[in-house]
Amino acid sequence: MLVLGIETTCDETACSIVESGQKILSNVIATQADLHALYGGVFPELACRRHFDVLIPIIDQALEKASVKAEQIDLISVAKGPGLIGALFLGLHAAKALSLAWNKPFIGVNHVEAHLYAAIMGCEKPQFPALGVVISGGHTFLVKMQGIGEYELIGQTVDDAIGEAFDKVAVMLGLPYPGGPEIEKLASQGVLGKYLFKAGVVKNHPWNFSFSGLKTNVLYTLKGQNSDKEAPLLLAPEETPHIAAAFQEAALQAIVQKALKAAHQFECKMIFLGGGVTQNQRLRHLFEEAPIPVFWPLPGLSLDNAAMIAGLGFHVFLKRDCQGDGLDLEPLPRIPLS
Ligand code: KG4
Ligand code: ZN
Repeated sequence: MLVLGIETTCDETACSIVESGQKILSNVIATQADLHALYGGVFPELACRRHFDVLIPIIDQALEKASVKAEQIDLISVAKGPGLIGALFLGLHAAKALSLAWNKPFIGVNHVEAHLYAAIMGCEKPQFPALGVVISGGHTFLVKMQGIGEYELIGQTVDDAIGEAFDKVAVMLGLPYPGGPEIEKLASQGVLGKYLFKAGVVKNHPWNFSFSGLKTNVLYTLKGQNSDKEAPLLLAPEETPHIAAAFQEAALQAIVQKALKAAHQFECKMIFLGGGVTQNQRLRHLFEEAPIPVFWPLPGLSLDNAAMIAGLGFHVFLKRDCQGDGLDLEPLPRIPLS
C-alpha cells in the first residue's frame, strides 16, 4: 500500500511516499529555518505563505524521487494538528484536493503521535506497554502506549516545551535560530558543573515538566534582573559555554530522570522517543544506561517530516477498516494525545 504523506504543521513543508508504513521511498523536506532565523522564532504568517509557495513542487518531487505515479498512490495522509492553524489549513486542503482529483481516500493524523511513530519505525518488534517521550519545539509529553493509537497521557509541560526553552536560551546567548543544535555545540566546549541549574518541579504533578523557571535562571545569571535582550552580559563571554552546558544538562536530566522513573512505575517494556530534541547527542548518551531498550527516530526523522505522517496514516487507516476522513475534517491546532 503506497501512502503519500503531507506535513505542514509548523515551519517545515514536507512530502513523503512510504510503502505499507515501513519502507520510505522518498522523504522531501523544505525547511523554513532561514526565513524564521531573522525573527528568532517561527513567524506564523510567513510560515503559511512559504507552505503555499512550495507545497505543490514538494509533492511533485516526492513522487518523482520515489518513481511513483499519482495513480499508484493508495492513500493520502496529512497532519491535521496540532500546529499553526493557517499552516494546517494548507496541508489539509492540499490533501483534500488530491483526494478528490485522484479519487483516493485521505486521512488526517496527529503530528505528535507521528513523532513517536518515527521511533517505532526503527523497531522490528515493538513491545507494549511502552513509554512514549515526545520532545520537540512545540511539545513535551510522557505517554504510556498500549499500541499504535492507544495512549494514556502521563505528564506534559506546564509552560515551555523543551525545544522552545532551548530556542529561547539560545536567543539570550546570542545564538541563531533554531537554538537547540547551537546550544549543543556551545555546550560541548563548556565545563559541566561550573554552573548549576535545575528544571522546575510541578507541585502535586510529579510527571509534569516546567522549563520556564530554568530559562529565567539562565537569564538572571547572564544579565542580572535585566530581561532586555540588548542588556550587557554580567559575565565574561568566555563563561557562555559553561552556562550552555549547565542549561542543557538541567533540561535533559529532567527528561531522562522522569522517563526512566515512569518506565519503571508503569512497567514499560520499551521507550520510544520522538521530536527534534532527540537529535541531541548528550541526551542519547544519558539514555545509554536505561534498563530497557530505547528507540530513537530513524535518521532524518527526528525533526518534522512527512515520512512519519505517511507511516502512521497507514496504521490508522487499517485500524479504521480502511475508512478515510470526510471532506468536512477541520484542522485542529490543539489535540490531546490520549
Ligand atoms: O520536532 P521539531 O521539528 O518541532 C516541533 O514539532 O515542534 O523540533 C524542533 C525543535 C527546536 O526547538 C530545536 O531547537 C530542537 O528541536 N532541536 C534540538 C536539537 N536539534 C533540534 N534541541 C536540542 N539539541 C539538539 N541537537
Ligand atoms: Zn514536530
